Amino acid sequence: MSSQNAESIRARFEAAGQGHVFRFWDELPEASRSSLLAQAEEIDLNELGNLAAKLAAGGSDDGPALEGLEPAPYIPHPRHGGDAEEWAEARRLGEEAIRAGRVAAFTVAGGQGTRLGYDGPKGTLPVTPVKKKTLFHVFAEKIQAAERRYAARIPWFIMTSHANHAATVAAFEDAGFYGLSADRVSFFTQGRMPAVGRDGKILLEAKDTIAMSPDGHGGSLRALVRSGAVDKMREAGVDTLSYFQVDNPLVRCVDPVFIGFHLRAGSEMSSKMIPKAYPDEKVGHFCRKDGKTVVIEYSDMPADMQRERDADGQLRFVAGSIAIHVLDVGFVARVGGGEAGSELPFHRAEKKIPFVGTDGEVIKPEAPNGIKFEMFVFDALPFAKNAVIIETLREDDFSPVKNAEGKDSPQTAVEDQLRQFSRWALAVGVELPVDDTGLPSFAFEVSPLFADSGEAFAERWAALAEKPVVKEGTVLEV
Ligand code: UTP
Repeated sequence: MSSQNAESIRARFEAAGQGHVFRFWDELPEASRSSLLAQAEEIDLNELGNLAAKLAAGGSDDGPALEGLEPAPYIPHPRHGGDAEEWAEARRLGEEAIRAGRVAAFTVAGGQGTRLGYDGPKGTLPVTPVKKKTLFHVFAEKIQAAERRYAARIPWFIMTSHANHAATVAAFEDAGFYGLSADRVSFFTQGRMPAVGRDGKILLEAKDTIAMSPDGHGGSLRALVRSGAVDKMREAGVDTLSYFQVDNPLVRCVDPVFIGFHLRAGSEMSSKMIPKAYPDEKVGHFCRKDGKTVVIEYSDMPADMQRERDADGQLRFVAGSIAIHVLDVGFVARVGGGEAGSELPFHRAEKKIPFVGTDGEVIKPEAPNGIKFEMFVFDALPFAKNAVIIETLREDDFSPVKNAEGKDSPQTAVEDQLRQFSRWALAVGVELPVDDTGLPSFAFEVSPLFADSGEAFAERWAALAEKPVVKEGTVLEV
């Protein structure tokens, strides 16, 4: 970078009240200077200035206005009164789109996974009961199973972060892309946002390093555009994206029924819901406000509202969000491309952020001292035409790994997989000792390449000339 360029970047930061980012400039070696300038160039000072101004004025997130909030309607699952014929029709439509090569899988894997505390990208966490396949491996097999079933090409896009990009790509390379052909899988890095102190000033994590963190899963929309992924999809004839998080081994990566409902409605963004297990369950709530679909976080909805019941005793705000969506590629291009009036808001999280003090020493705060900014993907819903929400069964779609232990941990994810495999096996008459939660007394495993649903399992099982004994350590594969 020319020194003139460096001067102009520094001048812009000075003018924006962020000149302290270059406080240690004079003592930095050349390589550190270049790296600091490159980080500085990533920052949109206008955007940050607006956020900082809001901070100085209000101090906290505004939170959504709650007047006029109604529960969002959803399409119930056939098991809970949904119309089985309508579901079958949706499946046909979805399958047609997959066969035609219109659908790509999309995983957001740029999170920091701080609660789990695993050393490596979360997608490389071993998660299956016997073979200890990783999350990425499970998704790859589910995608491959769909490719085989529909004789289709299903490209897979994976969003990483600066912090985990290289390790993610290396994991795929080391694993031979888990049996997928490498040219089907595309990786791209999401954007970052600087962390600021309560005064709105950018924090330095080292003398030559700005404290930056990924800009949230909502950053995926602009990252899809900026990285060229949207162009790539259009070239390949892909117009529909199946969006899921990296932390959920049960997710149906490419669900024809869900895709079909989305296409049938001409929806730009669709979502799956599960009925909340109990009133205070910590999930976002699908709601309608001013004719638009919105998600209200549990932390933004007063407890009495979360517990409200309708005349027949059902929870009124029952639809919990599980972060599974279908997105129209044209919609991603519009919203991610920065169309006026459809900017996703930033949410602010107060965090403990280690920083360099004026004397150059790193300070590790005991209490939250700064703010990180993140966008949430569900904030795109109000901009989407004909947003559709369908009900799914928790046991078939949702068991996230968030924490190292206890609720939503690797242990609960293993148990939920075991319950699923057991349901499939019991349904075809396999004898299995299970407890009253459906958990078998031993570990076994069904590869998605053997079967990725109850129906597929029944089909495969019926076709086996010799039925294997299912016992401790059994793996049903390919
Ligand atoms: P979470 O909200 O669970 O955050 O992400 P996290 O960073 O993984 O974990 P914690 O909160 O630090 O413990 C939900 C999904 O969104 C992705 C994550 O990778 C996960 O699939 N995500 C989150 C991103 O891709 N980018 C982000 O900036 C944040």
